[in-house]
Amino acid sequence: MAKEPVRVLVTGAAGQIGYALVPMIARGVMLGPDQPVILHMLDIPPAAEALNGVKMELVDAAFPLLKGVVATTDVVEACSGVSVAVMVGGFPRKEGMERKDVMSKNVSIYKAQASALEKHAATNCKVLVVANPANTNALILKEFAPSIPEKNITCLTRLDHNRALGQVSERLNVQVSDVKNVIIWGNHSSTQYPDVNHASVKTPAGEKPVRTLVADDQWLHTDFITTVQQRGAAIIKARKFSSALSAASSACDHIRDWVLGTPEGTWVSMGVYSDGSYNVPAGLIYSFPVTCKNGEWSIVQGLSIDEFSRKKLDLTAQELSEEKALAYSCLS
Ligand code: NAD
Ligand code: LMR
Repeated sequence: MAKEPVRVLVTGAAGQIGYALVPMIARGVMLGPDQPVILHMLDIPPAAEALNGVKMELVDAAFPLLKGVVATTDVVEACSGVSVAVMVGGFPRKEGMERKDVMSKNVSIYKAQASALEKHAATNCKVLVVANPANTNALILKEFAPSIPEKNITCLTRLDHNRALGQVSERLNVQVSDVKNVIIWGNHSSTQYPDVNHASVKTPAGEKPVRTLVADDQWLHTDFITTVQQRGAAIIKARKFSSALSAASSACDHIRDWVLGTPEGTWVSMGVYSDGSYNVPAGLIYSFPVTCKNGEWSIVQGLSIDEFSRKKLDLTAQELSEEKALAYSCLS
């Protein structure tokens, strides 16, 4: 029997990530090839005409899974009945800007949209915040939508996770699909800590640790980390716009694994509400290694953290605590 359509909200849908993301959702990349969807697309009035153009293209593409499109500048209409909300709308970072520069513009948007989601989304709606500063926007959304379970509010660090997989695959000249269990700890910013200490590669002789195969601690401790940390800025420098196709694809990966589950023996990175695991302060949205089953994520427990890693986990936590304080000062 055909499944009932799922309503999926994309905010900022007339922007560049939105333009890459909505066709992926309509093709089943996010929720599966047998899951019909109704797309809810929100943008602001100056982008209304462009948003309508995206709607026209969705109709023209005749996606079999797409059972309806709501294109609106009304946040209540946009949020009504949605089971998945991908929050992309906001003010993007331009060349030379740090994430903190865009903080005040974005946290007030996320405070307002929190209330709309809380009142109008479906019960148990899963929320993914993409717009920067992603962790702190998600935290503000969580704080101002107290009736949404905190486990349902997450932010995107899967792009950083995928970037780390990509760097290892290029370095070792192996298929990216054979690399697994890298970790992004902390903030989606240049203080994030991409960690390969528990990562492995599938080889004809079985799974081998990335550290053994790379055999160059210097690269792993320096260029690998900075390349992943700075990849967003490098893309802005090259394209003059921030990453879009990789962000959209990673957003689909994040929701797909959350809803449908992670493969056995594999974890992914998600920005989630910290419960104090790994001595990360509770009350931050922090990227952890997680596995997902039955629509719920769980932080992978018991991984060893060496001294080098400990410092990096603490540094990015410190930045998130500062961002949290700054966000509150912007709102007061
Ligand atoms: P963009 O400027 O092309 O699009 C943003 C869209 O949001 C625009 O259409 C704008 O009109 C809309 N918008 C602004 N305020 C809004 C509001 N209140 N409600 C609804 N829509 C609103 O930007 P983009 O390149 O698509 O990037 C979007 C965000 O994603 C940026 O904050 C960017 O920094 C961030 N980003 C995050 C990641 C990540 O991995 N977490 C990766 C890439 C980009
Ligand atoms: C990215 O990681 O590509 C983006 O977050 C960069 C940005 O600041 O928009």
